[in-house]
Order: sequence, then C-alpha cells, then structure tokens
Amino acid sequence: MSPAAPFDAVELICRKRDGGELSDQAISWLIEGYLAGAVADEQVAALLMAIVWRGLCHRELEAWTRAIVASGERLDLGGLGRPTVDKHSTGGVGDKVSLVLVPLLAACGAAVPQLSGRGLGHTGGTLDKLESIPGWRANLTNDEIRAQLASVGAVICAAGAGLAPADRKLYALRDVTGTVESIPLIAGSIMAKKIAEGTDALVLDVKTGTGAFMAARDDAVALARTMVGLGRAHGLSVSALVTAMDAPLGRAVGNALEVAEAVETLSGRGPADLVEVTLALSREMCALAGLSADPARALEDGSALARWREMIAAQGGDPDAPLARAPHVAPVRAGRSGVLARLDARGVGVAAWRLGAGRARKEDPVSAPAGVVCLRKPGEAVAAGDVVLELHTEDVTRLPRALAALEGAIEITDAPPQAAPLVLERID
Ligand code: URA
Repeated sequence: MSPAAPFDAVELICRKRDGGELSDQAISWLIEGYLAGAVADEQVAALLMAIVWRGLCHRELEAWTRAIVASGERLDLGGLGRPTVDKHSTGGVGDKVSLVLVPLLAACGAAVPQLSGRGLGHTGGTLDKLESIPGWRANLTNDEIRAQLASVGAVICAAGAGLAPADRKLYALRDVTGTVESIPLIAGSIMAKKIAEGTDALVLDVKTGTGAFMAARDDAVALARTMVGLGRAHGLSVSALVTAMDAPLGRAVGNALEVAEAVETLSGRGPADLVEVTLALSREMCALAGLSADPARALEDGSALARWREMIAAQGGDPDAPLARAPHVAPVRAGRSGVLARLDARGVGVAAWRLGAGRARKEDPVSAPAGVVCLRKPGEAVAAGDVVLELHTEDVTRLPRALAALEGAIEITDAPPQAAPLVLERID
C-alpha cells in the first residue's frame, strides 16, 4: 500500500480560497505533485484562481518560487572568471534592448547568460528577432552556454526544458484559466527562471504604459518591488528600473527591422530613447557586477559591436548576411500638420503583430521582415501628407487589419507634448 499523501489538495485550495496561508511544505508538495501528475490540472487551476484573489504573503511567495526552481536544474556558472549579470524586461513594443545590452555588458567585462523566450501577443520575443539572422540558432546545450560565456561573455539562447519545468506547466495552465494577471504569480514565474539560470546579479526593466503588460504605474512598481524582494531572498544582487512604454522604443518594431536598429545602436548611431534606456540599464548592471567600465564608451569605440559579431557567429549566425526585406511596404500618412503628440505603443505593437511579426499561438511561425517603422516619433514635427509609419509585410492581405489596429494611435497637435521621462523609478 502506498503511504497516504501528507496533504489534501482540496483542503489547501479551500484554505487559500478563505484567505488563509499555506505552509512551505504544503507549497512544495503541491508544485512537486502537479509536475508529477499527482495533483490534477483542475485542482491547480482552482488554487491559482484563489491566489489571484487572495495573493501570497512574502513567505508563501518565497516558498512557491523555491519550489518552482527546485522542479528542475539550476545552472552552475561559477568559475567563468567574470561576474555574471543579466537583465529581464517585462516586455514592450520595439524593445530590442537585450540585443544591444548583452554584447555591451560583455564588452564591459561581464558574462551575460540571457536565457530567453519567444514573443506571444503584441510584444516581440528576443529569440524571434535573432532568428531573422541567417544561420543563427537559439538552442544551446548547457556546456555550449558555459563555453560561450567563457570565450565571448555573451549568450542569448532558449531556456532549456530542464530549467524550471513546473513554471512551463503552470504558465500554460494560467494562460487558459484567466490566472496570468497576479503580481505574486508573475513575480514567482519570472524570478524562478532567472534564479535557475544561475546568474549572480539581475537588473529588471519593468515597463509601464499602454504597450506594457502592466499598464498602470502603481502595478509596475508593486511588481518591481516584489521581484527585487524575491531575488534578494534567493541570494541574487538585484535592482529594477520602471521605464515608460507609451510609445515604441526606437523606430523599428518587428524582427529583422529591430535587429537592424540594434546593429545601428551598437555602431553608435542608435535612436536617443533606445540609447537612454539601454545605458541606464547597463549602468545598473555594471554597478551590481562591480564593474567600473563606461558602457557609453563601449558603444562608441566599437567594442560592443565586436562582441555582437562574436556572439552571433558563435551561435552559427552570419553577422554580415543581409536581413530579409518585406516585398510590400505601405505608408500611413499624417492627416494634418503639427507635432506628433502621441504614437500609441499598443496600437503599433498590435499592427506589427498583425503584419506577421508576432504569433497568435505558441506554434505559429513569425515573419522575419514584417513590422512597422516609425518615421516620426512623439515630439517631432509633421506636415500633412508626411509618412508617419511604414507598414512592412510579406502578405498584403494583412494590411487592412494592421491599419485597423492603428485607429486612434496617432495624435497630431499644434503644441508639442510635454517631455516625459523614460526612466520613471529605480527600486533596489
Ligand atoms: N512572463 C513570465 O515569464 N511569467 C509570467 O507569469 C508573466 C510573464
């Protein structure tokens, strides 16, 4: 006869439903049991909904995150001879910061192990962007990750199946049960993967605004605080910047378009907003990693670009290969003269997605050249008839729905908009 289970799933669900707390042992039993198939999907779905309503206290969230980390392997990145530091962004439109930041930090003396994901919805995924480079491959073994970190100092690759497998199963369930939107569940999910990745230090870019996961600033700050606290509790050096995501970052939105803009930025010719956010994050990363290098200099002197080329080549990519170009480019013109007051990040992100840059289901392919180029950004003057946006696509039948997503996304006024800061808050 098998021994009786130490907990009863229904009793734990009811306790959380009624606002009670779960012990560390109960949480670890639930997560282990779920991964092993001993606790059923419907029971975990009910528990997740109870957590959405009732939350988790600090102790519970630490135990929840620890159990997710313990469900798989934790990479050992010791002995590389350089400090390890990574960045995580909660996702935004035109957010190609990682493409610039990872080689930039390597040029500053760090080892950056960025285990990343693919895009879902209107925010793009870093792996999808890099896959527009001919030959580049996202899947590396743990030995390849270590070797590349030791030689180049920079890796961006897919998180392997062995890393936090409980999160993969839980996230898929949250996605179909309306239980994604919970600060403790989001914080635990993100931080478990970063803790398992083995980095010593982590900077979080928590985005807020229309194009962000957390549209309200207070929610973004609460998420940032929760993630910083969790990282600390698990021995990481961690800080967070809350940054604005009301307009796309840079001018390019879409996979190959963003790679091209990242290379321009690494060549010292990046758009001002992208450079500002990248440098703010890279200075945080240098500080956490104890590095005195100046990231702005590494952008200007070509050393970050040299690391980019090495990083791409080490993963089979050809940094000199031409990127795919869309056969169809349609203009969106200004209806009047004035100053572009607003360019809504969500509208542009959804348009790029509908043009083919993003996917609706996990298994869908993405189009490399599809996306939006913002020829005008907020604060810039426009004359009636000027092209404000270019819509790039491989499939002209996608244009009407992309245009529909841009309805109301462009606002032109007589007076320039008030300049708003990009870095809104720092949390450590
Ligand atoms: N990204 C994650 O990795 N997890 C979440 O829960 C939400 C966004």
